[in-house]
Amino acid sequence: MDSESKNPIVIVTGANSGVGFGICQRFITQLATRVPPDSYPQLELASKNPRLSIEPAEGLTLVLACRNPDRAEEARKKLWLLLDEFIAQQIRDGLYDGYAETFKKGLKIEFVKCDLSHSDKVFAFCDEIKKRYPYVSHLVLNAGLMAYKGIDWAVVARQLVTDFHGLVSTPEFKLQHVGETSEEGFGYVWMCNVFGHYIMAKELDQLLRKCPSLPGRVIWESSSEAKPQAFDIDDWQLVKTDQSYEGSKYQVDVIATLANSTVLYDEDGNSRPLDIVDETRPRHFVVGPAVTASELFTSKMVFSAFWTYLMYAARCTGSQLHPIQPVKGAISATYAMLAPLWALPDPSHPAKIGSRATFAGRPYVESELVRGFEGRKQDSIKLVAKMDALYGALKKSRTSD
Ligand SMILES: NC(=O)c1ccc[n+]([C@@H]2O[C@H](COP(=O)([O-])OP(=O)(O)OC[C@H]3O[C@@H](n4cnc5c(N)ncnc54)[C@H](OP(=O)(O)O)[C@@H]3O)[C@@H](O)[C@H]2O)c1
Repeated sequence: MDSESKNPIVIVTGANSGVGFGICQRFITQLATRVPPDSYPQLELASKNPRLSIEPAEGLTLVLACRNPDRAEEARKKLWLLLDEFIAQQIRDGLYDGYAETFKKGLKIEFVKCDLSHSDKVFAFCDEIKKRYPYVSHLVLNAGLMAYKGIDWAVVARQLVTDFHGLVSTPEFKLQHVGETSEEGFGYVWMCNVFGHYIMAKELDQLLRKCPSLPGRVIWESSSEAKPQAFDIDDWQLVKTDQSYEGSKYQVDVIATLANSTVLYDEDGNSRPLDIVDETRPRHFVVGPAVTASELFTSKMVFSAFWTYLMYAARCTGSQLHPIQPVKGAISATYAMLAPLWALPDPSHPAKIGSRATFAGRPYVESELVRGFEGRKQDSIKLVAKMDALYGALKKSRTSD
């Protein structure tokens, strides 16, 4: 265990493809510059105060938390190549100041196996992280899936005529499997998209608190498809709904928002203020990549190339929700990782940082509110209480084994 270095130690789940890979690529190339541009993507803020949240890092430990070792190894090699390409491009553009080579010497890209579908595997992952690393600076909870079943063509036709941008940003036509459960009997989508990450955030809390540049940051990848209507407290593991994906992403929004709360709630919704100001407490951020072409959805479509074309058509006709390339959709996450706290949403606000893209494809970020947060607050508190109870029971059964 290297306890000397103060470099960031970053964990990204689902790092081998799509947005997760984009976050790794973007974060590495950002840190390879003295002043990472994503620490101030809102130019008006940068001109006021270009302070950074982290000192220029002479290195980074990036942990690819993936379930498939071959895919993780492929991603690892590709990230090294992309860094070399980035440096070569800087040299060609006459921008190179030698800093990236120093950073590269201190860069480690490592793989730790992580399968979110079973609590034992998530606990095992966290045990391995605790064994290997002295602290965690950023925990990026990105991995996710959808129980995709097929397409309702009648809805495609309706959305195409009435709401073209909606068709390619919040598609209502996708059909999802209902009732899939994990080996342990939990809702499968819920386990992989919500509870696996919840366990991880709890288990790694102590390492986040040891981060040299406090606070440690937990980044939850949500979606513009997060829907309050898809969250029903009587179906909190999302087994009865036919919108488990939208429900899981809404749960992510409310869980991360409540994690920043300065009051403690019990299951009945009673609250009391936290006794002390705890500076070591990690900060949680909800981010969304907007729409990108990835394996989650686009590659499952019958005409995936045509679908990507429609995304460009949406962008050309005024949609800002189409960064399309995952590395561009990653900007909301890298912004939440790099920007100084004063530039980020206040923890008392139910805010979500979204990636956006201009007509020309330049990515930027925008904050929006978590929809319906106040109206669903009591149910959200109950949800967190249920998850805490389940987490506690699973942890207890492990220690008593
Ligand atoms: N793409 C978009 O337009 C979009 C929009 C909104 C939100 N998002 C969110 O962005 C995140 C990444 O999605 P993506 O579009 O990049 O999809 P993706 O390309 O399918 O990547 C998903 C990643 O999650 C991993 N994963 C899935 N189930 C897992 C499990 N049980 N245990 C561990 N890892 C698991 C996958 O691993 P394998 O490679 O082994 O399958 C893969 O690395 C998701 O949270 C998604 O909801 C994406």
